[in-house]
Amino acid sequence: MATAPEPPTAEALRHAVEVLRRGGLLGLPTETVYGLAADAENEFAVRRIFAVKGRPSTHPLIVHLGSTEAVSEWVSHVPEEAHALAAAFWPGPLTLVLPRSTRASDAVTGGQGTVAVRVPAHPVALAVLRAYGGGLAAPSANRFGRVSPTRAAHVLQDLGADVDLVLDGGPSQVGVESTIVDLSGTAPALLRPGGVAREAVETVLGRKLSSQSEGQVRVPGMLPSHYAPRAGLVLAGRSEAVHRAAELHAAGSRVALCGPAGLVAPPGVLQLPASDDVEELARSLYELLRSVDAAQVDVAVVVVPGEAGLGLAVLDRLRRAAAPRGGRT
Ligand code: TXA
Ligand code: MG
Repeated sequence: MATAPEPPTAEALRHAVEVLRRGGLLGLPTETVYGLAADAENEFAVRRIFAVKGRPSTHPLIVHLGSTEAVSEWVSHVPEEAHALAAAFWPGPLTLVLPRSTRASDAVTGGQGTVAVRVPAHPVALAVLRAYGGGLAAPSANRFGRVSPTRAAHVLQDLGADVDLVLDGGPSQVGVESTIVDLSGTAPALLRPGGVAREAVETVLGRKLSSQSEGQVRVPGMLPSHYAPRAGLVLAGRSEAVHRAAELHAAGSRVALCGPAGLVAPPGVLQLPASDDVEELARSLYELLRSVDAAQVDVAVVVVPGEAGLGLAVLDRLRRAAAPRGGRT
Protein backbone atom coordinates (compact mmCIF):
# COMPACT_ATOMS: atom_id res chain seq x y z
CA MET A 1 0.00 0.00 0.00
CA ALA A 2 1.34 3.41 -1.00
CA THR A 3 2.18 6.00 1.65
CA ALA A 4 -0.35 8.79 2.28
CA PRO A 5 0.23 11.92 0.18
CA GLU A 6 1.81 14.96 1.85
CA PRO A 7 0.46 18.53 1.79
CA PRO A 8 2.42 21.01 -0.38
CA THR A 9 5.24 23.20 0.93
CA ALA A 10 4.44 26.89 1.48
CA GLU A 11 6.73 27.72 -1.44
CA ALA A 12 4.95 25.32 -3.86
CA LEU A 13 1.58 26.66 -2.75
CA ARG A 14 2.64 30.28 -3.35
CA HIS A 15 3.95 29.42 -6.79
CA ALA A 16 0.75 27.54 -7.73
CA VAL A 17 -1.48 30.43 -6.66
CA GLU A 18 0.66 32.87 -8.66
CA VAL A 19 0.38 30.69 -11.80
CA LEU A 20 -3.40 30.52 -11.42
CA ARG A 21 -3.72 34.28 -10.79
CA ARG A 22 -2.04 35.09 -14.06
CA GLY A 23 -4.28 32.69 -15.99
CA GLY A 24 -1.72 29.88 -16.21
CA LEU A 25 -2.22 26.12 -16.34
CA LEU A 26 -1.34 24.00 -13.31
CA GLY A 27 -0.75 20.24 -13.19
CA LEU A 28 -2.68 19.42 -10.03
CA PRO A 29 -2.52 16.09 -8.19
CA THR A 30 -5.88 14.72 -7.13
CA GLU A 31 -6.75 11.39 -5.56
CA THR A 32 -8.26 10.17 -8.87
CA VAL A 33 -5.87 11.37 -11.59
CA TYR A 34 -3.78 14.50 -12.17
CA GLY A 35 -5.80 17.48 -13.40
CA LEU A 36 -4.91 20.31 -15.79
CA ALA A 37 -6.23 23.16 -13.66
CA ALA A 38 -7.04 26.80 -14.38
CA ASP A 39 -9.18 29.51 -12.82
CA ALA A 40 -12.74 28.50 -13.75
CA GLU A 41 -13.75 32.18 -13.99
CA ASN A 42 -10.93 33.18 -16.35
CA GLU A 43 -12.25 32.51 -19.83
CA PHE A 44 -8.86 32.93 -21.47
CA ALA A 45 -7.33 30.33 -19.14
CA VAL A 46 -10.23 27.92 -19.65
CA ARG A 47 -9.89 28.23 -23.43
CA ARG A 48 -6.21 27.36 -23.08
CA ILE A 49 -7.14 24.10 -21.32
CA PHE A 50 -9.17 23.06 -24.38
CA ALA A 51 -6.39 24.10 -26.76
CA VAL A 52 -3.66 22.23 -24.87
CA LYS A 53 -5.74 19.08 -24.48
CA GLY A 54 -6.96 19.23 -28.07
CA ARG A 55 -10.46 18.79 -26.69
CA PRO A 56 -13.63 20.05 -28.45
CA SER A 57 -14.90 23.18 -26.66
CA THR A 58 -18.41 21.76 -26.33
CA HIS A 59 -17.16 19.13 -23.84
CA PRO A 60 -17.74 20.65 -20.39
CA LEU A 61 -15.22 20.71 -17.53
CA ILE A 62 -15.55 19.87 -13.84
CA VAL A 63 -15.28 22.82 -11.42
CA HIS A 64 -13.19 21.78 -8.40
CA LEU A 65 -13.95 23.49 -5.10
CA GLY A 66 -12.27 23.64 -1.69
CA SER A 67 -15.41 22.98 0.35
CA THR A 68 -18.99 21.75 0.06
CA GLU A 69 -20.18 25.21 1.14
CA ALA A 70 -18.69 26.77 -2.01
CA VAL A 71 -20.99 24.66 -4.21
CA SER A 72 -23.98 26.95 -3.62
CA GLU A 73 -22.15 29.79 -5.44
CA TRP A 74 -21.89 27.71 -8.62
CA VAL A 75 -25.32 26.14 -8.79
CA SER A 76 -28.82 27.61 -8.78
CA HIS A 77 -30.16 25.06 -6.34
CA VAL A 78 -28.71 22.30 -4.13
CA PRO A 79 -31.20 19.42 -4.02
CA GLU A 80 -31.54 17.27 -0.89
CA GLU A 81 -29.83 14.32 -2.60
CA ALA A 82 -26.78 16.49 -3.35
CA HIS A 83 -26.48 17.33 0.36
CA ALA A 84 -26.62 13.64 1.21
CA LEU A 85 -23.98 12.62 -1.35
CA ALA A 86 -21.71 15.53 -0.41
CA ALA A 87 -21.88 14.56 3.26
CA ALA A 88 -21.09 10.93 2.44
CA PHE A 89 -18.34 11.31 -0.19
CA TRP A 90 -16.73 14.79 -0.15
CA PRO A 91 -13.92 15.49 -0.13
CA GLY A 92 -13.57 12.57 -2.54
CA PRO A 93 -13.86 11.02 -6.00
CA LEU A 94 -17.48 12.02 -6.76
CA THR A 95 -18.68 14.70 -9.21
CA LEU A 96 -22.23 16.07 -9.12
CA VAL A 97 -23.98 17.63 -12.11
CA LEU A 98 -26.40 20.33 -10.95
CA PRO A 99 -28.33 23.26 -12.45
CA ARG A 100 -25.76 26.04 -12.88
CA SER A 101 -25.67 29.58 -11.51
CA THR A 102 -24.42 32.57 -13.55
CA ARG A 103 -20.97 32.09 -12.04
CA ALA A 104 -20.49 29.00 -14.20
CA SER A 105 -19.69 30.36 -17.66
CA ASP A 106 -20.48 28.82 -21.05
CA ALA A 107 -16.74 28.24 -21.49
CA VAL A 108 -16.76 25.80 -18.54
CA THR A 109 -20.18 24.21 -19.06
CA GLY A 110 -20.03 23.92 -22.85
CA GLY A 111 -23.16 26.08 -22.94
CA GLN A 112 -25.25 23.55 -21.01
CA GLY A 113 -27.70 24.51 -18.28
CA THR A 114 -25.79 22.42 -15.76
CA VAL A 115 -22.37 22.50 -14.10
CA ALA A 116 -20.27 19.62 -12.77
CA VAL A 117 -18.72 20.19 -9.31
CA ARG A 118 -16.37 18.18 -7.11
CA VAL A 119 -14.44 18.66 -3.86
CA PRO A 120 -11.29 16.52 -4.26
CA ALA A 121 -9.64 14.78 -1.32
CA HIS A 122 -5.94 15.05 -2.20
CA PRO A 123 -4.19 17.31 0.37
CA VAL A 124 -2.34 19.21 -2.39
CA ALA A 125 -5.52 19.84 -4.40
CA LEU A 126 -7.39 20.94 -1.28
CA ALA A 127 -4.58 23.21 -0.12
CA VAL A 128 -4.35 24.89 -3.54
CA LEU A 129 -8.13 25.32 -3.77
CA ARG A 130 -8.32 26.82 -0.30
CA ALA A 131 -5.35 29.13 -0.82
CA TYR A 132 -6.69 30.28 -4.19
CA GLY A 133 -10.25 30.74 -3.03
CA GLY A 134 -11.98 30.35 -6.42
CA GLY A 135 -13.09 27.33 -8.41
CA LEU A 136 -10.64 25.46 -10.62
CA ALA A 137 -11.70 23.92 -13.90
CA ALA A 138 -9.65 20.75 -14.32
CA PRO A 139 -9.95 17.92 -16.82
CA SER A 140 -7.49 15.06 -16.62
CA ALA A 141 -4.03 16.35 -17.64
CA ASN A 142 -3.60 14.27 -20.81
CA ARG A 143 -4.06 14.98 -24.51
CA PHE A 144 -7.60 14.21 -25.67
CA GLY A 145 -8.27 10.46 -26.00
CA ARG A 146 -4.99 9.36 -24.36
CA VAL A 147 -4.30 7.61 -21.07
CA SER A 148 -4.94 9.76 -17.96
CA PRO A 149 -1.94 10.66 -15.76
CA THR A 150 -1.58 9.26 -12.25
CA ARG A 151 1.90 10.70 -11.58
CA ALA A 152 3.49 14.13 -12.03
CA ALA A 153 5.96 12.63 -14.51
CA HIS A 154 3.09 11.47 -16.78
CA VAL A 155 1.81 15.06 -17.02
CA LEU A 156 5.24 16.34 -18.01
CA GLN A 157 5.71 13.52 -20.55
CA ASP A 158 2.35 14.17 -22.19
CA LEU A 159 2.00 17.97 -22.00
CA GLY A 160 5.60 19.18 -21.64
CA ALA A 161 6.01 22.96 -21.77
CA ASP A 162 2.27 23.48 -22.43
CA VAL A 163 1.71 23.32 -18.67
CA ASP A 164 3.14 26.17 -16.57
CA LEU A 165 3.74 24.25 -13.33
CA VAL A 166 3.21 20.65 -12.21
CA LEU A 167 2.89 19.98 -8.48
CA ASP A 168 4.09 16.53 -7.46
CA GLY A 169 1.62 14.91 -5.07
CA GLY A 170 2.88 11.36 -5.51
CA PRO A 171 0.95 8.59 -7.27
CA SER A 172 -2.86 9.09 -7.36
CA GLN A 173 -4.39 6.85 -4.71
CA VAL A 174 -7.68 6.01 -6.46
CA GLY A 175 -6.30 5.83 -9.99
CA VAL A 176 -9.53 6.19 -12.02
CA GLU A 177 -11.54 9.39 -12.52
CA SER A 178 -14.40 10.48 -10.29
CA THR A 179 -17.85 8.94 -10.49
CA ILE A 180 -20.21 11.44 -12.18
CA VAL A 181 -23.80 11.56 -10.93
CA ASP A 182 -26.33 13.83 -12.64
CA LEU A 183 -28.83 15.27 -10.15
CA SER A 184 -30.25 17.88 -12.52
CA GLY A 185 -33.04 15.72 -13.93
CA THR A 186 -36.05 13.97 -12.47
CA ALA A 187 -34.07 10.86 -11.44
CA PRO A 188 -30.38 10.57 -10.49
CA ALA A 189 -28.26 9.19 -13.34
CA LEU A 190 -24.80 7.67 -13.47
CA LEU A 191 -22.92 9.50 -16.25
CA ARG A 192 -19.52 7.88 -15.62
CA PRO A 193 -18.56 5.08 -13.21
CA GLY A 194 -15.48 6.04 -11.19
CA GLY A 195 -13.75 6.15 -7.83
CA VAL A 196 -16.92 5.88 -5.72
CA ALA A 197 -18.72 2.58 -6.28
CA ARG A 198 -22.17 2.78 -7.86
CA GLU A 199 -23.54 0.61 -5.02
CA ALA A 200 -22.24 3.08 -2.41
CA VAL A 201 -24.02 6.00 -4.12
CA GLU A 202 -27.24 3.99 -4.40
CA THR A 203 -27.08 3.07 -0.70
CA VAL A 204 -26.88 6.74 0.30
CA LEU A 205 -29.66 7.76 -2.11
CA GLY A 206 -31.85 4.81 -1.16
CA ARG A 207 -32.63 4.24 -4.84
CA LYS A 208 -31.05 2.97 -8.04
CA LEU A 209 -29.15 5.20 -10.42
CA SER A 210 -30.34 5.18 -13.99
CA SER A 211 -27.64 4.86 -16.64
CA GLN A 212 -27.70 7.65 -19.15
CA SER A 213 -27.78 6.41 -22.73
CA GLU A 214 -24.51 7.25 -24.42
CA GLY A 215 -25.71 9.38 -27.32
CA GLN A 216 -27.26 12.03 -25.09
CA VAL A 217 -24.20 12.92 -23.10
CA ARG A 218 -21.35 15.27 -23.87
CA VAL A 219 -18.74 13.40 -21.92
CA PRO A 220 -15.43 12.71 -23.65
CA GLY A 221 -14.89 9.70 -21.41
CA MET A 222 -18.15 8.42 -22.92
CA LEU A 223 -16.79 8.26 -26.45
CA PRO A 224 -16.36 4.63 -27.51
CA SER A 225 -12.59 4.96 -27.88
CA HIS A 226 -10.83 6.77 -25.05
CA TYR A 227 -8.20 6.28 -22.35
CA ALA A 228 -6.33 4.44 -25.09
CA PRO A 229 -2.74 3.18 -25.25
CA ARG A 230 -1.12 2.81 -28.68
CA ALA A 231 -1.10 -0.99 -28.54
CA GLY A 232 -4.29 -2.93 -29.17
CA LEU A 233 -6.10 -4.43 -26.17
CA VAL A 234 -7.97 -7.70 -25.96
CA LEU A 235 -10.15 -8.17 -22.87
CA ALA A 236 -10.45 -11.70 -21.59
CA GLY A 237 -11.80 -13.72 -18.68
CA ARG A 238 -9.22 -15.34 -16.45
CA SER A 239 -9.83 -18.81 -17.86
CA GLU A 240 -9.28 -17.87 -21.52
CA ALA A 241 -6.54 -15.22 -21.23
CA VAL A 242 -3.50 -17.51 -21.55
CA HIS A 243 -5.01 -19.28 -24.55
CA ARG A 244 -5.87 -15.96 -26.28
CA ALA A 245 -2.32 -14.68 -25.70
CA ALA A 246 -0.83 -17.88 -27.15
CA GLU A 247 -3.07 -17.62 -30.23
CA LEU A 248 -2.11 -14.01 -30.91
CA HIS A 249 1.58 -14.83 -30.45
CA ALA A 250 1.28 -17.79 -32.85
CA ALA A 251 -0.30 -15.44 -35.41
CA GLY A 252 2.87 -13.31 -35.32
CA SER A 253 2.00 -10.48 -32.90
CA ARG A 254 4.20 -9.24 -30.08
CA VAL A 255 1.95 -9.94 -27.09
CA ALA A 256 1.75 -9.02 -23.41
CA LEU A 257 -0.44 -10.83 -20.89
CA CYS A 258 -1.74 -8.57 -18.08
CA GLY A 259 -3.20 -10.63 -15.30
CA PRO A 260 -2.87 -11.65 -11.66
CA ALA A 261 0.04 -13.65 -10.28
CA GLY A 262 -0.74 -17.29 -10.83
CA LEU A 263 -1.44 -16.87 -14.52
CA VAL A 264 1.65 -17.93 -16.42
CA ALA A 265 2.33 -16.33 -19.79
CA PRO A 266 2.98 -18.78 -22.63
CA PRO A 267 6.52 -18.85 -24.11
CA GLY A 268 7.33 -15.70 -26.11
CA VAL A 269 4.58 -13.66 -24.40
CA LEU A 270 5.58 -10.86 -22.01
CA GLN A 271 3.99 -11.01 -18.57
CA LEU A 272 2.85 -7.73 -16.98
CA PRO A 273 1.42 -8.16 -13.48
CA ALA A 274 -2.10 -6.81 -12.77
CA SER A 275 -3.67 -7.14 -9.34
CA ASP A 276 -6.77 -9.23 -8.74
CA ASP A 277 -7.74 -6.83 -5.95
CA VAL A 278 -10.04 -4.41 -7.74
CA GLU A 279 -9.01 -1.29 -5.79
CA GLU A 280 -5.36 -2.03 -6.40
CA LEU A 281 -6.14 -2.71 -10.06
CA ALA A 282 -7.92 0.67 -10.35
CA ARG A 283 -4.96 2.41 -8.70
CA SER A 284 -2.47 0.92 -11.14
CA LEU A 285 -4.65 0.67 -14.27
CA TYR A 286 -3.30 3.65 -16.22
CA GLU A 287 0.25 2.80 -15.24
CA LEU A 288 -0.39 -0.69 -16.63
CA LEU A 289 -1.65 0.76 -19.94
CA ARG A 290 1.49 2.91 -20.09
CA SER A 291 3.73 -0.09 -19.45
CA VAL A 292 1.99 -1.92 -22.32
CA ASP A 293 3.15 0.87 -24.64
CA ALA A 294 6.60 1.03 -23.07
CA ALA A 295 7.00 -2.70 -23.77
CA GLN A 296 6.33 -1.99 -27.46
CA VAL A 297 3.98 -4.92 -27.93
CA ASP A 298 1.32 -4.98 -30.66
CA VAL A 299 -1.41 -6.24 -28.40
CA ALA A 300 -2.04 -6.82 -24.70
CA VAL A 301 -4.46 -9.42 -23.38
CA VAL A 302 -5.93 -8.02 -20.15
CA VAL A 303 -7.78 -10.08 -17.56
CA VAL A 304 -10.97 -8.19 -16.64
CA PRO A 305 -12.52 -7.86 -13.17
CA GLY A 306 -16.21 -8.28 -12.29
CA GLU A 307 -18.56 -5.26 -12.13
CA ALA A 308 -18.80 -4.98 -8.34
CA GLY A 309 -17.31 -1.93 -6.58
CA LEU A 310 -14.56 -0.20 -8.55
CA GLY A 311 -14.69 -3.08 -11.05
CA LEU A 312 -17.36 -1.17 -13.00
CA ALA A 313 -15.04 1.83 -13.52
CA VAL A 314 -12.07 -0.39 -14.42
CA LEU A 315 -14.18 -2.34 -16.94
CA ASP A 316 -15.54 0.89 -18.42
CA ARG A 317 -12.01 2.29 -18.97
CA LEU A 318 -10.71 -1.02 -20.35
CA ARG A 319 -13.61 -1.31 -22.81
CA ARG A 320 -13.00 2.20 -24.09
CA ALA A 321 -9.25 1.57 -24.32
CA ALA A 322 -9.98 -1.59 -26.31
CA ALA A 323 -12.56 0.02 -28.65
CA PRO A 324 -11.76 0.39 -32.37
CA ARG A 325 -9.74 3.56 -32.89
CA GLY A 326 -11.22 4.62 -36.23
CA GLY A 327 -14.04 6.65 -34.68
CA ARG A 328 -11.88 8.63 -32.30
CA THR A 329 -12.25 12.40 -32.47
O1 TXA B 1 -11.53 12.55 -11.38
C1 TXA B 1 -11.85 13.44 -12.16
O2 TXA B 1 -13.03 13.74 -12.38
C2 TXA B 1 -10.70 14.18 -12.89
C3 TXA B 1 -9.90 14.95 -11.83
C4 TXA B 1 -8.85 15.82 -12.45
O3 TXA B 1 -10.76 15.67 -10.99
N1 TXA B 1 -11.22 15.04 -13.88
C5 TXA B 1 -11.75 14.56 -15.03
O4 TXA B 1 -12.09 15.55 -15.92
O5 TXA B 1 -11.89 13.38 -15.28
P1 TXA B 1 -12.43 15.26 -17.44
O6 TXA B 1 -12.66 16.61 -18.06
O7 TXA B 1 -11.40 14.40 -18.04
O8 TXA B 1 -13.80 14.58 -17.33
C6 TXA B 1 -14.90 15.32 -16.81
C7 TXA B 1 -16.17 14.79 -17.31
C8 TXA B 1 -16.23 14.99 -18.80
O9 TXA B 1 -16.49 13.76 -19.39
C9 TXA B 1 -17.33 16.00 -18.98
O10 TXA B 1 -18.02 15.87 -20.18
C10 TXA B 1 -18.21 15.74 -17.77
O11 TXA B 1 -17.28 15.50 -16.76
N2 TXA B 1 -18.99 16.93 -17.47
C11 TXA B 1 -18.55 18.12 -17.07
N3 TXA B 1 -19.58 18.99 -16.93
C12 TXA B 1 -20.69 18.31 -17.24
C13 TXA B 1 -22.08 18.65 -17.29
N4 TXA B 1 -22.50 19.88 -17.00
N5 TXA B 1 -22.96 17.69 -17.65
C14 TXA B 1 -22.53 16.43 -17.95
N6 TXA B 1 -21.24 16.06 -17.93
C15 TXA B 1 -20.33 16.97 -17.58
MG1 MG C 1 -10.17 12.70 -19.08
